[in-house]
Amino acid sequence: MGITFKSSEQTFHLQSKNTSYIFMVKEGGYLVHLYWGKRIREYNHSNKVRFEDRGFSPNPLESDRTFSLDTLPQEYPQFGTTDFRDPAYQVQSENGSTITDLRYNSHKIVKGKPNLEGLPSTYIDKEEEAETLEVTLIDSELHLKVVLSYTTFKDFDVVTRSVRFVNEGVEKLRLLKVASMNVDFHDADFDIVTLPGAHIRERHISRTPLREGVQSVESRRGASSHQHNPFLALARKETDEDHGEVFAFNFVYSGNFLGSVEVDQFNQTRVNMGINPFDFTWLLEPDESFQSPEVVMAYSGDGFGGMSKTFHKLYRTRLCRGKFRDEERPVLINNWEATYFDFNEDKLTGLATQSGALGIELFVLDDGWFGKRDDDYSSLGDWFVDKKKLPNGLKNLAENIQQEGMQFGLWFEPEMVSEDSELYRKHPDWCIHVPERQRSKGRSQLILDFSREDVCEEIIQQISNTLSSAPITYVKWDMNRHMTEVGSGALPKERQRETAHRYMLGLYKVMEEITTRFPNILFESCSGGGGRFDPGMLYYMPQTWTSDNTDAISRLKIQYGTSLVYPISSMGAHVSAVPNHQVHRNTSLKTRGIVAMSGNFGYELDITELTDEERAEVMKQTFFYKENRSVIQFGEFYRLKNPFEGNDTSWMFVSEDQQEAIIAYVQVLADPAPAFSVIKLKGLAPYKKYRIDELEKTFYGDELMNVGINVPMMKGDFQSFMWKLIEV
Ligand code: DGJ
Repeated sequence: MGITFKSSEQTFHLQSKNTSYIFMVKEGGYLVHLYWGKRIREYNHSNKVRFEDRGFSPNPLESDRTFSLDTLPQEYPQFGTTDFRDPAYQVQSENGSTITDLRYNSHKIVKGKPNLEGLPSTYIDKEEEAETLEVTLIDSELHLKVVLSYTTFKDFDVVTRSVRFVNEGVEKLRLLKVASMNVDFHDADFDIVTLPGAHIRERHISRTPLREGVQSVESRRGASSHQHNPFLALARKETDEDHGEVFAFNFVYSGNFLGSVEVDQFNQTRVNMGINPFDFTWLLEPDESFQSPEVVMAYSGDGFGGMSKTFHKLYRTRLCRGKFRDEERPVLINNWEATYFDFNEDKLTGLATQSGALGIELFVLDDGWFGKRDDDYSSLGDWFVDKKKLPNGLKNLAENIQQEGMQFGLWFEPEMVSEDSELYRKHPDWCIHVPERQRSKGRSQLILDFSREDVCEEIIQQISNTLSSAPITYVKWDMNRHMTEVGSGALPKERQRETAHRYMLGLYKVMEEITTRFPNILFESCSGGGGRFDPGMLYYMPQTWTSDNTDAISRLKIQYGTSLVYPISSMGAHVSAVPNHQVHRNTSLKTRGIVAMSGNFGYELDITELTDEERAEVMKQTFFYKENRSVIQFGEFYRLKNPFEGNDTSWMFVSEDQQEAIIAYVQVLADPAPAFSVIKLKGLAPYKKYRIDELEKTFYGDELMNVGINVPMMKGDFQSFMWKLIEV
């Protein structure tokens, strides 16, 4: 296990528990990719790199017409020196040329994993958990140094990668593209799996065969986005939930990204992922360096289930941080869909009092408590309480709610400013904008220019003042529009195309500062629901509001797609009113509860309007969830039935010690004369006996996993069940 360098063969072998990643330094100092996949003991060139004299593939080494970068599988390919495929990076020098020629210079292998300064990344608690290889490449003409970083973890089948560019010359350089990683696969026998979507339809699963040429997934919106998640996987044709190979890539970044896959003329596949080069240039002055964000590359030989298991555990334990990483998350009620902007102190305390009586633990006051915000046209940037709505202030409200035995949480949208706000009137140049151009609004708001230090300082101060002013134990950090007219009043003209990335660096700094100042506050990120559900945000805030769509049936696909990569403890899920506010569907409180209880559970409806029968049901739900949340939030998650393939969905949670499990099932539409459906459970101990109360019987795990259980016949649309299994 770990990283070895065989100097006689110039070969690097990175081993984790079940995987090997191998590459070598070839003559001329080129890094050649050899293998990534199931772990092998030792690499002895059984698939020796092949060289042929290929037409129209030129040769960088004078003496060898069979050697061309155009055909060679590489680690960090460049443009302009015989490779015509999609390069991992591109740099422009002062003479205008974009040709670079990086060659191997040196390497070092160190214990542990260095942090990426100012950027989110996976981390370790103890040095022995990981090893890191840094390979230094040099372009001797430009005096450009590039350091490729690879980390392998003892307990996870992942390689994390990032890249650092250093200008060691005397001339200015311009970075035009900086992918954080590149892998050249030797074949193209894959499907590409991605998570496309839209606002209120996030992270649906797309799987299509690879074809010749470039196919990509990207965001140009200034946020990782609802439209595409910074994730892609290559899966073998035969790969399914439990079998087959998956090679997955996830970018630890919350802004513009590009994940690109190119199938070349010889059926080889190149994948690279990083900051989107579209509308990006970074000026690198002499002695300056540029650190790319990290890409997590996960290999699974056990299908998508194996891939998710790796991502879930890595992200839950070595990406999320702070005291809430390992703490059970509270059952909350959020007033947004209950009141929108229309509330006063009495309404809120009434909601909180009744919620507390039903077992809910945290009351969250959403949008509308500050400035003079009675609708979404004003006040963003003015983070002081609206005395018209809350005449006794936040502290008083929070304390009253606390007296009811509930915690108090608050909504912010710190990155935004309304034109109608004191902040904007004082600092109209503090938003992202281009002088002389119109400032297009989204949801009637503008984006604060977080690439500026003065803006970041002001927001840190304002948010900190509010958080210190009242007993607040939870914050929802929202962000509700994408970037247009991208430019910064604080940057010189040659750095304008750095704005979007500098904004992300500023945002990360602000979040680091605020979450460090308030370690006892649980932070949940949100961007109109799941518009920034990415590992970058999870580094600062261990949970995310999964979608503004709270309809239980829509949520089946949204939560299933999200679970491909992100752990259950990161997904906010609420029971809302019917007809549902987004899709106007009616579903039972039971089904809404079962779907919402499969994440960080909460309610988002006017609890004071429930009937006695509904109140009793809510009490049952909160009781069940609290009893079982450690299994749901921190157990192993298994997908049993895929909502993209049929009319029903099923999933389950198993405790780490395999003593308890919970299975959930939802049927979408009622079928006439339905088939007899059986579900085979997963993740149980075959030799343990489990009791299922609803079936009034006990079964060995192997029976439940191999023979399965009957799905009861259910009449009507949107029916469901959630059963508990306990070892006897
Ligand atoms: C978008 C969020 O996703 C909603 O939950 C809510 O907080 C609104 N913003 C408030 O403006």
